[in-house]
Amino acid sequence: MGYYEQHIFCCTNERKKDAPRGCCRSKGGEEIRAYLKDRVKELKLPKTRVNMSGCLDRCELGPVLVIYPQGTWYHVKNKKDAEEILQTHLIGGKVVERLALDDKQKRL
Ligand code: FES
Repeated sequence: MGYYEQHIFCCTNERKKDAPRGCCRSKGGEEIRAYLKDRVKELKLPKTRVNMSGCLDRCELGPVLVIYPQGTWYHVKNKKDAEEILQTHLIGGKVVERLALDDKQKRL
């Protein structure tokens, strides 16, 4: 087992406004990261860490995050989605299917 039991990487990468692929920061990636970090701290989730990440190469699907060690990828549109991931995945141990990237999206 790694140092953390759940390690969440939230893309907060920023590109120029006219970048063809867009970026997670312009779609709220930083707000998602900050929300999850605050909530994990507030709930004192053990061995759980939320980090910002550079581009995860799923820009068109952003904002995206990935949770290890499971390697579960999510598209997270807002804080409500982030809370659902926190409650269902991080606390409940179940994948939030409606927000998870499918196998094709993970292989972009
Ligand atoms: S900018 Fe977030 S995945 Fe590329």
